[in-house]
Amino acid sequence: MNLITKSILTAIFLLTTINSAFSADVTLKITKRYLNLPVSQKQDQGNMRFDIGGEQERSFRIRLAANPEYWVFTDVSALKGKTIKISYDGKADGLPKIYQDDQINGQDSLYHEKNRPQYHFTTKRGWINDPNGMIFYEGEYHLFYQHNPYEREWENMSWGHAVSPDMVHWNELPVALSPDNLGTMFSGSAVIDYNNTAGFNKGKTPAMVALYTAFTKDKQIQCVAYSLDKGRTWTKYEKNPIIDSKARWNSVDTRDPRVFWYKPGKHWVMVLNERDGHSIYTSQNLKDWNYESHTTGFWECPDLFELPIDGDKNKTKWVMYGASNSYMVGSFDGKTFLPEAGKFYYVTGTIYAAQTFTNMPETDPRRIQIGWGRVQQPGMPFNNMMLMPTELTLRTTKDGPRLFSKPIRETQQLFEKLKSWPVLTSDEANKNLKEFYNSDRFRVKASIKLSHATSAGFNLFAQRVLDYDMNNNTINGVFYSPENITGMELTADIYVDRTSIEVFIDGGKYSYSMERRPDKNNTEGLHFWGNNIEVKNLEVYSVKSIWK
Ligand code: FRU
Repeated sequence: MNLITKSILTAIFLLTTINSAFSADVTLKITKRYLNLPVSQKQDQGNMRFDIGGEQERSFRIRLAANPEYWVFTDVSALKGKTIKISYDGKADGLPKIYQDDQINGQDSLYHEKNRPQYHFTTKRGWINDPNGMIFYEGEYHLFYQHNPYEREWENMSWGHAVSPDMVHWNELPVALSPDNLGTMFSGSAVIDYNNTAGFNKGKTPAMVALYTAFTKDKQIQCVAYSLDKGRTWTKYEKNPIIDSKARWNSVDTRDPRVFWYKPGKHWVMVLNERDGHSIYTSQNLKDWNYESHTTGFWECPDLFELPIDGDKNKTKWVMYGASNSYMVGSFDGKTFLPEAGKFYYVTGTIYAAQTFTNMPETDPRRIQIGWGRVQQPGMPFNNMMLMPTELTLRTTKDGPRLFSKPIRETQQLFEKLKSWPVLTSDEANKNLKEFYNSDRFRVKASIKLSHATSAGFNLFAQRVLDYDMNNNTINGVFYSPENITGMELTADIYVDRTSIEVFIDGGKYSYSMERRPDKNNTEGLHFWGNNIEVKNLEVYSVKSIWK
């Protein structure tokens, strides 16, 4: 045998062994609520598929592992009594480890894991990004979100689902929308169809209708699904998609429908990001949509809403923003948004793709926003988080009406004031703060009064939480001009959780967030600094956990 033949034969042998090790299946009768699946980021992804009676029931990409780094789960309660075949085309030695149980693997430590944020929503297992379909209905706030249930990175886009009585305490429910033959489930919104315009209602029960993007590599199309049980189970409309605008824009970037009822015109409005901006579509029935207009200059995840200026219902403006939260202020007649001013920002940092709740009760017309916090959760079986819910208001400033954002009043139940001091030097403040150094979570509020137009601020174990530079007029590098333009004082309300920090400046005129990254070798803890600064109205609060 010459060398070439020999190496070809070796190659064939290797391939067959690899092939047999890389594809396998197991058959299982479902008797419990969950299938627990062992995974590791060190493994390559493979396709896992469940079949019942020869028909595919679900399929997803997963990094199955014989030596799991952590466990994920899939809810199979709907399959009880059925026999399923689980097949996997990746390295399949983790397959025999899959087991069913009425508890998820890790239930005992759930929400108490070392790096689990204690007052921000995170998912039990897997990845989250954009909030979706945020809606209030019958006493419950619904938060759907971009979700990969099967690992801590982005993949298998689905709509996760959690409900809350107060937007602070959350109960995670089973996945609401899973990928189908039109694609994976990208971002979108939800409405309640009180007038049965789409014909999905049943008797007196109005449908909760979700509008979302189905994503494939070469297309992003808009689809509809509805739920008659408060978002617990969903039926996808059989004539999906309802909008396919790839040809109009010569672009695959057409996504993230944001839908609401436009009362004066008695029609539905959809704001859809298409290629280079936000388009407006209108509809009578949530299924047939007419293209109306387009505002360039935005990317992904639109929002559009009307707000009173300084709380005066007779003086309103419309706000349009995109995924980075930059916004325009203008007017809207149901078909066209006319920008008057912008673009501005009111928030920066880890926030992305924020959305606001719709269908708020008439007695509580607040505009409440939740943003995706792009915050790594080191070593955890879950990743990223939602930032604190904030109320958005439009207020008159010297430069015209501007957005302000502040944590909603419901968050106040979490905080207990431990100590406060009216006026201190930075040295005194630092001494007083010593006993709070090692808390995993707390809130500090203070005004700093500068004596020089140079930098002053606040560190947490050497991490620059606040760096106000009056020479460059920046806060942590971002341009900031206070409402009192000659004022030497700045107020910061600082919310520290295990892995994140959110800062609200001057009552919400500007806010930002960052990952919490203490320098392990630093012993300074909480530390005010600056040339002869005064620390005024320093307050320290403890924070309750939102998890039981
Ligand atoms: C924004 C985004 C959306 C898209 C989703 C996919 O973060 O890119 O445009 O629908 O994430 O997960």
